[in-house]
Amino acid sequence: MLETVFKTTTMEFIPQLVEPAVRLHLLVVDADTAVRSACAEIATSLGYAVESTGDLGQARSLLRGHTADILLVNLPSGSNEGLELVSEVKLLYPDTSVIAMTATGSVNAAVEAMRCGASDYLTKPFAMDELSTVLDRAAQSHMTDTATRQLRERLRLSEGLGSMIGRSPEMEKIYRILSKVAQTTHPVLILGESGTGKELVARTIHAYGPNAQRPFLPVDCGSLVPTLIESELFGYVKGAFTGANRSKDGLLVSAEGGTVFLDEIGELSLDLQAKLLRALQEKEVRPVGATHRVPIKARIVAATNRDLASMVEKGTFRKDLFYRLNVVNLRLPPLRDRREDIPLLAAHFLDRISREHNRKFTLSDEALRTMMRHDWPGNVRELENSLERATALSSGPVLHLGDLPTQLQQQGLEARRAAVVAGEEAGAAAAPGVKPLADLEREAILSAIRTLNGDKLQAAKLLGIGKTTLYRKLKEYGIADPLQEE
Ligand SMILES: Nc1ncnc2c1ncn2[C@@H]1O[C@H](COP(=O)(O)OP(=O)(O)OP(=O)(O)O)[C@@H](O)[C@H]1O
Ligand SMILES: [Mg+2]
Repeated sequence: MLETVFKTTTMEFIPQLVEPAVRLHLLVVDADTAVRSACAEIATSLGYAVESTGDLGQARSLLRGHTADILLVNLPSGSNEGLELVSEVKLLYPDTSVIAMTATGSVNAAVEAMRCGASDYLTKPFAMDELSTVLDRAAQSHMTDTATRQLRERLRLSEGLGSMIGRSPEMEKIYRILSKVAQTTHPVLILGESGTGKELVARTIHAYGPNAQRPFLPVDCGSLVPTLIESELFGYVKGAFTGANRSKDGLLVSAEGGTVFLDEIGELSLDLQAKLLRALQEKEVRPVGATHRVPIKARIVAATNRDLASMVEKGTFRKDLFYRLNVVNLRLPPLRDRREDIPLLAAHFLDRISREHNRKFTLSDEALRTMMRHDWPGNVRELENSLERATALSSGPVLHLGDLPTQLQQQGLEARRAAVVAGEEAGAAAAPGVKPLADLEREAILSAIRTLNGDKLQAAKLLGIGKTTLYRKLKEYGIADPLQEE
């Protein structure tokens, strides 16, 4: 029966199953029973879940009952019914990819179908491999489009993307590029100062990519000696060097379609740069000590906090390797350029720490304001470490200025003094002699402790407050040493 439908059946036909985990649904609509069942037969052998019908009304009810991932629809000459179905499907089920089938010579019908939203077409009679190619293309684009849309949707509802926190315009831009490149296997170069989240981005690209279930293998080119990097990346054979008691695959081989993350790529020696370039160009490596070459299949994501472009100019980084890695680049903004993300990040880290220690932590307004003014040269990592430290030192659930690193405490105190001066000036003009209650409380505490030569326990008693309250207030007012305070 196939002979009647297809140009040839003599070619060797090897069914290539689409990813079995995602069995896509195909609906075939053609009044010609022979074409319909032949297409269904081939598509089933390719791994699709297939339904077919010759009737447009039934096609509509099948689509309503179970949205098809791909629609393969015949456009009969002399009728607009097929085209109407194409427009309708693209309107009602935009995720469905449409392939139109037309009779020989009806180029116009194919053009019309594409205009109505079909992504591809087949001219009858077609060969099996043409059908298989077109279905494969539709399946790929369907999965990419759906994954990107789902990612965007998830992004719209959350505080960031995956484990990445931040809703600043700078981060939104990163997420947009990231959600697109994640669906491909192009190399990605991640640039950014230390602690900006380069490794986290690399992991997110992998996690949202088509090979997320394959390994993610990081290699730190900055901390390993060149010979070790070479044997890590390319592998070695037994006896290649002292201690090589058996052969070992390199990470570029054992990634098996996963991601190799080349961290601190700017530190790679020129000799290794040349070897890496060759491996990427030829898609094979020669393990250390071997005479043979081994094919590799790995996505490369590289990161650095160095200025690679200027290293290229100086001749310390190979231009050809730079271009090969820099197919897509993501430049992560320093935290000081996206200060609006600090409260979200702080809440995220405190939430994690609270869960880990089974104790709830929050930040006082003043501590958070100070954190938002700080420049964070160590970026997100510095912020995370400061909070770890603050929670370890804090006695209560609220973290105050006094719990933050010394530099931040000083910045906070300066800001407080500036606010007091500004307040005094404004207050003096408005109502001379009137002081904020907090100032009076601070003065009362300081004077009590000073009068009692630093005896805080006695001071608390005389002030009529508990010892813990006194300590909390000292922290709130940023008083580290009451006897030194102005
Ligand atoms: N956007 C973010 N949301 C949540 N956590 C983040 C974010 N960016 C970074 N982090 C956290 O900050 C820490 C540092 O991130 P990461 O190791 O990815 O930075 P890096 O750029 O690779 O730093 P370095 O250059 O020092 O190696 C990690 O604990 C990471 O989880
Ligand atoms: Mg890193």
